[in-house]
Amino acid sequence: MKKNLKLGVFGFGCVGQGLYHVLNETHGVKAEIKKFCVKNRNKARIIDASYFTYNADDILNDPEIDVVVELIDDANAAFEIVKKAVENGKHVVTANKKMLAEHLEEIYELQKTYDRSILYEGAVCGSIPILRNLEEYYDNDLITSIEGIFNGSTNYILTKVFEERKNYAEALKAAQELGFAETDPSLDVKGYDPKFKLAIAITHTFGVFVRPENIINIGIDKISATDLKYARENNLTIKLVARSYKIRDEIFGFVAPQYIPTDNMLASVRNEYNAVLVEGAFAEKQVFIGKGAGSYPTGSAVLSDISALTFNYRYEYKKIAQNDGLPFSNNVLVDAVVSFPQGNLITPQDFETFKGGYQGGGFQNLHGSVPLEKLKEWAGWDNVSVILAPEINLKAVPASELVERLTA
Ligand code: HSE
Repeated sequence: MKKNLKLGVFGFGCVGQGLYHVLNETHGVKAEIKKFCVKNRNKARIIDASYFTYNADDILNDPEIDVVVELIDDANAAFEIVKKAVENGKHVVTANKKMLAEHLEEIYELQKTYDRSILYEGAVCGSIPILRNLEEYYDNDLITSIEGIFNGSTNYILTKVFEERKNYAEALKAAQELGFAETDPSLDVKGYDPKFKLAIAITHTFGVFVRPENIINIGIDKISATDLKYARENNLTIKLVARSYKIRDEIFGFVAPQYIPTDNMLASVRNEYNAVLVEGAFAEKQVFIGKGAGSYPTGSAVLSDISALTFNYRYEYKKIAQNDGLPFSNNVLVDAVVSFPQGNLITPQDFETFKGGYQGGGFQNLHGSVPLEKLKEWAGWDNVSVILAPEINLKAVPASELVERLTA
């Protein structure tokens, strides 16, 4: 039996306004917004002032409100809101990926302790229905990997840079104006935002909680004109790819830019679109593509969670029961191309297996297999750009062996 839900919404930014519109346009969802809680009293609002409160308790302590929808920017404040809402007997819908990634285990425990549901489909790849599919559709398949484009802003920037030859700063500004980028856009371009989404997806894919600081993220902010030229000359494009794999009984995951052949399916995922490729032992490869950022697409994912609550839906975290806490590891070798101004900053001997390189236009370009941790170190150096090779040839390495290689 469907319930009629009363909602208290925190935030009236890009996603809050999107939710307001999609809820008004849909007829099937039995839910209405009672109040929006916002911070700024002086901002002009597009809806009547009677909708707004500036006091969180007006929502959190209102017994008539069944569901708290958390759509604010500040991850710490968001977690406090979610905790208080659940303690006060309310269900929660949130799209705050940073907050979720940083507190996922506590979020999981809160739901059990207070017997409430916290849903967050809108936090991972915007409008793509991935979490409920991982929970329900893939509940018995043995998933071996999940990977794809998990950030709309960087995909938008890379599309504009490649196809329209816009410069990076111009493309980033457009992504901000369109409401795709985070308030602090370095979260997008340095690969933190897709990493938060990957951490959440890993829990629903492999039943493991991974702290975001343990997942390596390399961004697109150091991609150079030389890299773009290399890509164009070799029929490649560049995408920021988030990926996680199960190899034997370990889970690996990282975010990094990658050269993608132009005939690869990911190359055709353009602008703010995201893509998620799930590979399972039985279903084999399946692909989801949809808008990963923007007011209405994310608002629609939030609305879908609200609709799910009218049917008393909750995540069961089925993979946690199935997987018995597999360890997460960064002990892996990957194939990458590094480029830097000519010199001996990095040499062929620094690679585990060197596969080739060239010099030209004052730049040096080296390709080979390298431990992921070392790649992260190189990515942190000035003027060094790190891009995964089209075939990354992922190879898990026992930790003991890797320590020797890293310190050699
Ligand atoms: N900044 C995010 C992105 C918004 O560009 O994907 C959606 O999570």
